[in-house]
Amino acid sequence: MTQDELKQAVAQAALDFIKPDLKPEAIIGIGTGSTANLFIDALATVKDRFRGTVASSDASAKRLRDHGIEVFDMNQVEKLAVYVDGCDEANRKLHLIKGGGAALTQEKIVASIAKTFVCIADESKAVQKLGAFPLPIEVIPMARSAVARKLLKMGGNPVYREGVVTDNGNQILDVYELDIKDPEAMETAINNIPGVVTNGLFAHRPADVLLLGTKDGVKKLSVINTMAEDGEFY
Ligand code: 5RP
Repeated sequence: MTQDELKQAVAQAALDFIKPDLKPEAIIGIGTGSTANLFIDALATVKDRFRGTVASSDASAKRLRDHGIEVFDMNQVEKLAVYVDGCDEANRKLHLIKGGGAALTQEKIVASIAKTFVCIADESKAVQKLGAFPLPIEVIPMARSAVARKLLKMGGNPVYREGVVTDNGNQILDVYELDIKDPEAMETAINNIPGVVTNGLFAHRPADVLLLGTKDGVKKLSVINTMAEDGEFY
């Protein structure tokens, strides 16, 4: 199967979390990226099962509205039944790296009010240790160089993602070569640098479920079952 077919399979499998007995007032949180786009398209087939959505980017909001799915401002919403989003990397604790699509800040905010966070990804995203994918960091533009210097001191190699402006009007640094031994500690340390809006580590609020598209089908992984006895991821 191609990577796109694996993404399609997990997007379809995520519909299991949009059950027919969902409360009609339920609101669904929606991520950003190519896998999330496939989920949005699948969600359109069951749009009578929930009241509406909160989107993590302008692009996802537009795609939802194009399907006739209501998109609420998050200020109008207290909680989400489920949040569905892709990732750039996932470890066996379901800590994630996100932000390849520059939507990390709103993704983290939307995930924070979800009862269940379902991550959907093809098997190339499953890793033993986070950090081969450069860690995206959203920064206030005037702080970009100051933040980059602090990241160099932390052992990272920050690269400015030129030409990209986030939906919040900020810039992105992609940080290579970070040694992410402790994802929670690293998430906190980077977020404490003045000028950082958010970093793409989702460790304090990991996914609850990872639907991983593999050549043997979609695996439904939670922290409890990611550790196979032979040390493989699943
Ligand atoms: C966007 C993200 C995406 O979830 C991540 O980049 C994965 O994207 P894709 O589904 O296109 O592989 O974090 O900010």
